[in-house]
Amino acid sequence: MLKKLSAFEGIKGPIVTIVMDGVGYSPKEEGNAVAQARKPYLDSLMKKYSHVLLKAHGTAVGMPSDADMGNSEVGHNAIGAGQVYEQGAALVAKSIQTGEIFKRDAWKEITENVRAKKSTLHFLGLFSDGNVHSNIEHLKAMIAEAKKEGIAKVRVHVLLDGRDVPETSALDYVGPFEKFLDELRSPEFDVCIASGGGRMKITMDRYNANWKMVELGWKTHVLGEGRYFANTTEAINTLRAETKAIDQDLPPFVIAKDGAPVGTIQDGDSVVYFNFRGDRSIEITRAFEEEHFVEFDRVRFPKVTYAGMLQYDGDLKLPKRFLVPPPAIENTSGEWFSKAGLKQFACSETQKYGHVTYFWNGNRSSKFDGETYLEIPSDVVPFEQRPWMKSAEITDSMIDAVASGKYNVLRCNFPNGDMVGHTGSLRAATMAVEAVDLGLARLLPVIDAMGGVAIITADHGNADEMYDVDKKTGLPKTNKDGSIKAKTSHTLNPVPCILYDNVTGGRLSLKEGSWGLSNLAATTANLLGFEKHESWDDSMLLIK
Ligand code: 3PG
Ligand code: CO
Repeated sequence: MLKKLSAFEGIKGPIVTIVMDGVGYSPKEEGNAVAQARKPYLDSLMKKYSHVLLKAHGTAVGMPSDADMGNSEVGHNAIGAGQVYEQGAALVAKSIQTGEIFKRDAWKEITENVRAKKSTLHFLGLFSDGNVHSNIEHLKAMIAEAKKEGIAKVRVHVLLDGRDVPETSALDYVGPFEKFLDELRSPEFDVCIASGGGRMKITMDRYNANWKMVELGWKTHVLGEGRYFANTTEAINTLRAETKAIDQDLPPFVIAKDGAPVGTIQDGDSVVYFNFRGDRSIEITRAFEEEHFVEFDRVRFPKVTYAGMLQYDGDLKLPKRFLVPPPAIENTSGEWFSKAGLKQFACSETQKYGHVTYFWNGNRSSKFDGETYLEIPSDVVPFEQRPWMKSAEITDSMIDAVASGKYNVLRCNFPNGDMVGHTGSLRAATMAVEAVDLGLARLLPVIDAMGGVAIITADHGNADEMYDVDKKTGLPKTNKDGSIKAKTSHTLNPVPCILYDNVTGGRLSLKEGSWGLSNLAATTANLLGFEKHESWDDSMLLIK
């Protein structure tokens, strides 16, 4: 059981953690949608209330290095668990470096299957080095090992990124990768790219937001249905010219030779889904694993030996076979607040719903006792067209939940800064931040009325840098037509953390220090009048 604090009896009303997804802090104004947004409420909070900046990237959230930006998975894991675990990106890189991955049963089953059946080994996943969902270096290491182990035929299905890496960088990955394949190819080793498309068009949907994307991915990778191209470069150049879309939104393509697709997925094949992050891996994994599947008509359901890079959901055991064991995230705040008999409420719209539930609770899809979850359905639109998203509805639901008096601890996520930040539209991103400001202005007074306290923070930066800046000159990069190149990915910036307290008469503040997201769980525990769990990082709370 969590011990009672001796110095502080705890706040009587609810403790509410508000995650402004993708709202980082940078002093630089140029291209910074957070700084440029008209957000009088948030600005006044930063003036009036105790606040600190939290590290939200790199090793502070379990990424391999401090050059790695943060992301919602590692961010919400750290907030919810109060601890930093080595995350998928680091675990897979290590397992490849030591060779452990290739000694495990999953890899042996995948490779023995294709050797025994003289069938094809397929790799499918996000084709970049963003290190958020995947890393192309992991893919290359597996292909090289497949050749070493005498596998005859490999096909690669590439999901173009432009969301965790520069928005039109696909060819920077395709070119060197094709060269890498050329060097490996031999009469005994037949390897090539077989299909692909933008990651926001096919395959990588999350939280059941839009199964049509997965269906289109299935048609592309498995059935080989779609527009044919001779190679990936030709596909990307043609589709770019026709659609003007950035990489994440490029339509699907199938690589064909002599009028037939070069790599459909067939009975007896092996498939490795090489993304390590779970949210955008679960739906396609279900399509490959579930015998009785109702989300769309698969037309053909090949009997394949399937493995995920990691296990994506420990409760659902999804997938059954995985190449590297996931981080064993234990003793989360959700679990221990539940054991303390507290009632917890979590809310977001579909796009970030799993962030405040599944990621928050250490990649578990089931609830702890006393938890209530509310999902507001997200629109299925490009979010630069609706930068307010469902911020008003999330606010309404949080107001109801706080005012109901039923919950001791509440959490919500406003996705706007992140989801709109990923579109690359600076104008829409300022509106996104403004929508969150409105939400805060409505919600926080209700928390006051209930005698509660709020922590307003974020999981990582995104909207705080909307221009792709040249590291050498410090100036924004430009497109061929002279327009500024947008930055669609997350940033390395810290995030704000504001202690909104109108109930203790100034007894509480946040200590100055070098803090990160993993310090939030202990801080919340203290606000509730409990000592932190021994495995959690320190509390930031100063109690007078
Ligand atoms: C995505 O999946 O949309 C991006 O790759 C990462 O964004 P998130 O970490 O904010 O979800
Ligand atoms: Co994001």
